[in-house]
Amino acid sequence: MLSGKTILVGITGGIAAYKICELIRMYKRANANVLIVCTPNALNFVTKLTLQNLSQNEVAVEEFDVKDFKPEHISYADCADIMVIAPATANTISKIAAGMCDNLLTSIACAFTKPVIVAPAMNCNMWENPVVQDNLHKLHYEILEPESGYLACGYEGKGRLCSLEKIFDKTVELLNYKPLNGKKIVITSGGTIEDIDPVRYISNYSSGKMGLALADTAKNLGADVALITTKDVSRKYNVIKVKSALDMKSAVEKEFEDADCVIMAAAVADYRVKEIASQKIKKTCDDEISLTLVKNPDILKEISSRKTRQIVVGFCAESENLIENAKEKIRKKGCDYLIANDISRKDIGFSSDYNEVTILDKNGNMKKLEKVDKMTIAHKIFEEIYG
Ligand code: CTP
Repeated sequence: MLSGKTILVGITGGIAAYKICELIRMYKRANANVLIVCTPNALNFVTKLTLQNLSQNEVAVEEFDVKDFKPEHISYADCADIMVIAPATANTISKIAAGMCDNLLTSIACAFTKPVIVAPAMNCNMWENPVVQDNLHKLHYEILEPESGYLACGYEGKGRLCSLEKIFDKTVELLNYKPLNGKKIVITSGGTIEDIDPVRYISNYSSGKMGLALADTAKNLGADVALITTKDVSRKYNVIKVKSALDMKSAVEKEFEDADCVIMAAAVADYRVKEIASQKIKKTCDDEISLTLVKNPDILKEISSRKTRQIVVGFCAESENLIENAKEKIRKKGCDYLIANDISRKDIGFSSDYNEVTILDKNGNMKKLEKVDKMTIAHKIFEEIYG
């Protein structure tokens, strides 16, 4: 994905520095050349040896270790395509904003003319300090704001380094790697809502997070995205809000003809109420009432039978016999790929940010992806489909 690109990773002295080891691996897996520059304090949190092994390059810390007859900071600034400062401490942010060049990292930043990503991480009170905020706004860089949560210092608040996938995706986006350019990708997400009467409905626990991760990833990779979802989503790409399985079917059919790929990540209700009551159903003296349900169309099966050039991908939620049921499902539905996930596990799947899936293809191949966040799964799905 990133072959031919040189990424200069600037690591500063914050506890989140240890997370950058994994970011380096992600860049390397995508075939980038990774150069690393650390502030002296960063090496209190990660070792030079670890970073050198992961990047397979020397790690630079000192300013005047001159090689190839150019000052170190200028040769780094010249040869990298992008600089990613993560984690960025309040101290480094403020120094760069002031134009200070008191170590190799700040000197490179000052001399760097290509895109720079800054991913701050710090204590929440430091983050909220108006001086830090002012300095941050002085930087005309891509700022990936920290997330809220439990902080290493024991506080709860905004200050955690944003997800590595966000940093990775932004790097890819800024380097203009668009492997899905010119492709129209249609994705469904969320659980459908089947009305019973004006105040009640039947639905399911699907959060829509997997579909959204797929749509965001497809967009970052250059695709023309249509996200058909039951959830409220605000994005710059085409978002089509639907409610029931029948609504979703019409929307999918409308987008299908000129699509290159359709991914059905939605949890579509298999049945709907036969007759939706036009008024609220009142309580009676009976202890039981019955609802008659009728079968919804199987959208995935129908589009799979009509596909010409489109690649059709289904999801399969199972609470038991995952692989057995998935193999049967891909055969019955006739799709090209099926992403199988085990919904009996509480730590993954519905409403979690993580998932562990197995990708099956129509030729009987299977690939298991260990538990990772949904953005990474989305990446791997597109890698599997488009190589
Ligand atoms: N699906 C669909 N239309 C339906 C039901 C499901 O398009 N009426 C799609 C889902 O979006 C998903 C795939 O089919 O991509 C599998 O959904 P799943 O709920 O696992 O399977 P079902 O076909 O509903 O079978 P079962 O509920 O019996 O497991």
